[in-house]
Amino acid sequence: MSFSNLVSDLAFKDARDDRSSQISHVRSQATARSHTSTAATSVSISGDISSQLHAGYSHPLSRSWQAERQLTKEMLIYPLFITDNPEEETPIPSLPNQYRRGVNRIVPFLKPLIHKGLRSVILFGVPLDPSAKDALGTAADDPSGPVIQTIRLLRSRFPQLYIVTDVCLCEYTSHGHCGILRDDGTLDNAQSVDRISDVALAYAAAGAHCVAPSDMNDGRVRAIKLKLIEAGMAHRVLLMSYSAKFSGCLYGPFRDAAGSCPSFGDRRCYQLPPGGRGLARRAIQRDIAEGADIIMVKPASSYLDIIRDAKDLATDLPVAAYQVSGEYAMIHAAAKAGVFDLKAMAFESTEGILRAGAGIVVTYFVPEFLDWLS
Ligand code: PBG
Ligand code: ZN
Repeated sequence: MSFSNLVSDLAFKDARDDRSSQISHVRSQATARSHTSTAATSVSISGDISSQLHAGYSHPLSRSWQAERQLTKEMLIYPLFITDNPEEETPIPSLPNQYRRGVNRIVPFLKPLIHKGLRSVILFGVPLDPSAKDALGTAADDPSGPVIQTIRLLRSRFPQLYIVTDVCLCEYTSHGHCGILRDDGTLDNAQSVDRISDVALAYAAAGAHCVAPSDMNDGRVRAIKLKLIEAGMAHRVLLMSYSAKFSGCLYGPFRDAAGSCPSFGDRRCYQLPPGGRGLARRAIQRDIAEGADIIMVKPASSYLDIIRDAKDLATDLPVAAYQVSGEYAMIHAAAKAGVFDLKAMAFESTEGILRAGAGIVVTYFVPEFLDWLS
């Protein structure tokens, strides 16, 4: 008799007395054997004992023990869009519950979030004044621009808050590309790296704890690291590289929010092709060698295999994943349509990202998670 038959027979016996003779026969067999063998062998099991999984997660606490990583507030980085009109506070239509804010609106907004356990933000500059854009992205490191002003303000008002700055030119270039272009419209890698590493240095000098280049130009991690070393800041400024950043439509809502849509062409020459696992692995290894302190993968949920690759390749550094604007907007839209519960889906997608190997998650759900995790 198999183990499961025995169990169901015993259960059956409790309900139906008319089978008691058969059951007592089984019982007496089991009792008889227990005198001569261990308890474990007293039941005949045709299947493998390792097939019995339920006990490992039958209790809420034992269920939590099964997770290699549990989502905590420390893992979360919240993206903020800072615009050049200091008083602005405008909802972003493509990103539910997210706003473009001017520098005067940031502190009152963040105060309650910090009280609830917000540890880190990533800043994106959104210059709305058309004169702020030119071919070189000059406004990116303007000392009176919204990002540098916000870094200074947050450092003085919230000394415990960890400030990450996205480093790119696309919000500041007239053409909307993530670097400086040649006359023929192609990306000039050397010039772009020069400029982007200067911008990173300016953010670091203003007090950013972490600079995160998202431009995807080759060699920018090394250039930034060298400038940080030269400037005597390498010991206090962390370099998080958007190493495996795949091209695709999932950044659409962000480009809407940041006004950073390319005016011609697309970003396929510098962002990775969606099938390019080999390229992603090479970029991750290269960025580690060039001095990155954290490796980032984005988007998150459609690239869980790459997050796992990153964790395997970057065994000795943290891996971050960016749940990008399109992933967030999709979850919101589906929840709004009644397809699933927003909270349940936010947890499931984020926990999937952690399970794949990330220890840091950049997500627009941070304010909700601060409520849900308390
Ligand atoms: C800027 C940048 C982008 C994102 C982060 N930094 C847009 C892009 O590269 O097109 C995307 C973030 C999101 O979609 O939430 N280079
Ligand atoms: Zn960019």
